[in-house]
Amino acid sequence: MPLEPYKIKVVEPIHLRPRPVRAQALRASRYNLFRLASRDVYIDLLTDSGTGAMSVKQWSALMGGDEAYAGSASFDQLRATVREIMGFEYVVPAHQGRGAEHILFMAALEPGQIVLNNHHFDTTRAHVEARGAVATDLGGTGHENFDRPDPFKGDIDLNALESFLTRSAASVAMVMLTVTDNTFGGQPVSLANIRGAAAIARRHGVPFFIDAARFAENAYFIQQRETECRRWSIERIVKAMFEEADGCTMSGKKDALANIGGFVALRNPELYRKVSTQAILFEGFPTYGGLAGRDLGAMAQGLREALEESYLEHRIGQVAYLGERLVRAGVPVMLPFGGHAVYIDAARFLPHLARQVYPGQALTIALYLEAGIRTVEVGTVLAGRDPNSHEERLPELDLVRLALPRRVYTDCHLDYVATAFQGIAAEPLKVRGVRITYEAPVLRHFTAEFALLVPPRRQAPAKTG
Ligand code: F0G
Repeated sequence: MPLEPYKIKVVEPIHLRPRPVRAQALRASRYNLFRLASRDVYIDLLTDSGTGAMSVKQWSALMGGDEAYAGSASFDQLRATVREIMGFEYVVPAHQGRGAEHILFMAALEPGQIVLNNHHFDTTRAHVEARGAVATDLGGTGHENFDRPDPFKGDIDLNALESFLTRSAASVAMVMLTVTDNTFGGQPVSLANIRGAAAIARRHGVPFFIDAARFAENAYFIQQRETECRRWSIERIVKAMFEEADGCTMSGKKDALANIGGFVALRNPELYRKVSTQAILFEGFPTYGGLAGRDLGAMAQGLREALEESYLEHRIGQVAYLGERLVRAGVPVMLPFGGHAVYIDAARFLPHLARQVYPGQALTIALYLEAGIRTVEVGTVLAGRDPNSHEERLPELDLVRLALPRRVYTDCHLDYVATAFQGIAAEPLKVRGVRITYEAPVLRHFTAEFALLVPPRRQAPAKTG
């Protein structure tokens, strides 16, 4: 059992609503759990983004926030921390990760260009496409990869990268690696793969970036699994990861342990000027970037705490703790367990539901009804439609993600989640498929509306005689 390297100082009550209230809340939310009120949720595993508990030192950093419009001391703290930890000279804050993506892509991407990634996270893909550019994934996916216990399933396919760039480097604006790979199980990327991808990009004259949202969790996996790095400190691994990159985008809501915030970090002064110009247009003056000074201070402190080994050991251990309990309950989960979440193959767990009736979404609904637990579909609904053909993109897997907020839930809460799965596994046929009744043209999963399908009638026994 993972040991908490903290004690609890502030508590927030949560309530398990009675089942009829949960059923009503589902109807009112049109079966999209993003539309539920959080007061109606007992255990919220929707995301690990901005939902963590801040530390005593982070709360004191809030009080020390310098709210000057320009040249705030809190910005200096953040920049000094990013320089020290990641080694990037230039830092432009943004209100969160997608704000960072937006200003970087406005500055560094032209319409028609291509971005290569192990897997674009959904907002990253949406911002690439909103720029009129093309987001191409070169990471492993699929059934054969789902529970094969490879240590670095987030790796980009270096052969595919090499041949893509050999064919069309001129149209590729950047290579990006998402560490850990949120779209594929929160699986880590090895240092060897980061170095390999960076070397290929460099050889073809293409800039190399890192989507750093969960960089510290990735570094912990490198320490645990990559022979060369067994004895390295997390700080050293993090330095080695970023040494290879021209810059990064960061969502401070993950591994900066903050409730809001993000930034772009860069080496190149010209690109920094361009990104700063975009920041002024869309985020704010480049020393606050849409954030209060206090938020910059909380992020700076959080970045340091995310590197503490005792924290990471507990964090990654807690995800594995939940994963193991689900395996015992007979739930098909992605192996090895990821850094921030456990991913379930909903289509395999609910084989009576065809892909067209969204088994992932159906499972999120069933879990909430069963136990007041909120999770998220990472499958067909999230994948959305191709911007040109408007056809649904059909990912090979229809997953449900159970993301663990940082420093929030106890192992007892996680045992409760596993028990809820046992309840569903006992009567899987009760879980009903859905159809979409409304969807927005981009990022549809956030606001889509669904209707439950009528369960297929049991076939009456054939009459004889
Ligand atoms: N990159 C990755 C890998 C992410 O997981 C996210 C957000 C972002 C970028 C965007 O950052 O939310 O601060 O704008 N992921 C959240 C999640 C929303 O639930 O996985 P943001």
